Amino acid sequence: MKPSRPASSDFLPHLERNNGISLERQLVHGFRQAILDGQLGHGMRLPSSRVLANTLKVNRNTVIAALEQLLAEGYLETKRGSGTFVYAQNMQAQAVTHLETARWLLPAAHLLVAPPVQSLEFRVCQIATNHFPLLSWRKSWLQAVQAAPPDDYQNALGEPSLRQAIGAYLQRARGLNSQPEDMLICNGTIQALHLICQATLQTGSSVAFEDPGFPLARQVFLSHQAKILPIPVDQDGLLVDQLPTGKNAPVLVYVTPSHQFPLGGRLSLARRLALLEWAKQNDALILEDDYDSEFRFDVPPLPPLASLDHSGRVAYIGTFSKVLTPALRLGYIISTPALRQRLCQYKTLADYQTNQPSQLAMTHFIETGALERHIAKMRRMYAHKRSTLVHALEPIAKLAKVRGLEAGINIFLECQPHVPLENIVARCAKQGLVVSTVGQYALQAKHHGLVLGYGALEPEEIIQAAKILVGAFSR
Ligand SMILES: Cc1ncc(COP(=O)(O)O)c(C=O)c1O
Repeated sequence: MKPSRPASSDFLPHLERNNGISLERQLVHGFRQAILDGQLGHGMRLPSSRVLANTLKVNRNTVIAALEQLLAEGYLETKRGSGTFVYAQNMQAQAVTHLETARWLLPAAHLLVAPPVQSLEFRVCQIATNHFPLLSWRKSWLQAVQAAPPDDYQNALGEPSLRQAIGAYLQRARGLNSQPEDMLICNGTIQALHLICQATLQTGSSVAFEDPGFPLARQVFLSHQAKILPIPVDQDGLLVDQLPTGKNAPVLVYVTPSHQFPLGGRLSLARRLALLEWAKQNDALILEDDYDSEFRFDVPPLPPLASLDHSGRVAYIGTFSKVLTPALRLGYIISTPALRQRLCQYKTLADYQTNQPSQLAMTHFIETGALERHIAKMRRMYAHKRSTLVHALEPIAKLAKVRGLEAGINIFLECQPHVPLENIVARCAKQGLVVSTVGQYALQAKHHGLVLGYGALEPEEIIQAAKILVGAFSR
């Protein structure tokens, strides 16, 4: 019996001449869509490119280019001497549906991330970027792209030159001694926390967490099925003596000792030593989030926990988000060899390594002193903004005390218990000013006040915003 001839297609895609889309793209789209929705069945033979070109009144090269594209995408196949055929096995009847619910789709997490700035806002933790060191930044990027990028994945720990440069910087700025091999470069604090969680937590492991504290970090722990143990905080930082011991001791303790977020205090030296001792006694790991200690005013810094640790119980996390820009997504973890080896494995699984050109640019930026010059400039700038704010808030000094002034780019305005915070927030909103209450960062803590970020506001805006706030207190 003679084999049956494959069915020929008389399908012709609809083309529009003046819609700004090239005829080649319209041809590809038209055939692809017809194959996907079954108009063109598997094995159907297409007319020759000459016939198609004549019928559609299109240049033959355009038809050939479109057919080649479809061949490359696997929608067509050629058989020597017999023509071009639709290849649609397992492809049809796959109508695209957008499932909102499915067995494999978990419910969406409620993510606590601040919405974009819309009006005047005492935006917490936001830095000023209008003084960005663009010239030296460009030079560093030019340097980073001098050589062609490598042709293979790089060390998951990160570029050795960057680890060396950060290590030397931390030695100068924080008195923290480390070796390049102690450090893993990652995409900011948030990725650092994810990697550490992967390396340390099991479902239901408990994590001690400052209350009030950094909501995004808490959500990272929760996303790894951890149980959060809120530990109260005062102006000297975490109340270390409230940490459970023995079989109730958490596996991890997350702290911001240089500048507690959001109350602004520093963990006192006595509490630092007590925390390290507690971690040793209870075989726990301390996560030291040192996110903005560079912006310190009036008082000298206290030594990082990592520099006081002699029992390998601290993972030190640093970031360039506050000193330079969060857009860079560049941070680092300094830890002991056993933990680092696991972090390295999870980093490989996450994304192999942090973007290499960014790492090279950052190396140059640090090595040429541009980072430290920028930090020194911003420190002066923030100090000026801080005193502008403190001065502007003097009229309400009897109702609200300014706390957390020693460092960072936020203050905590601790209010008298009778101050009606919700009304004040609403009155400010009516006048176009957004302010946050400390309750937004708390789990059980009962602090009463506002957290005011002043980093991104210009001094005139600080005065304008403070005027609205003072007015809202006075009514
Ligand atoms: C307490 C704290 N840690 C770290 C960060 C920075 O996170 P990342 O390095 O992922 O940008 C922030 C950002 O606001 C923060 O508030």
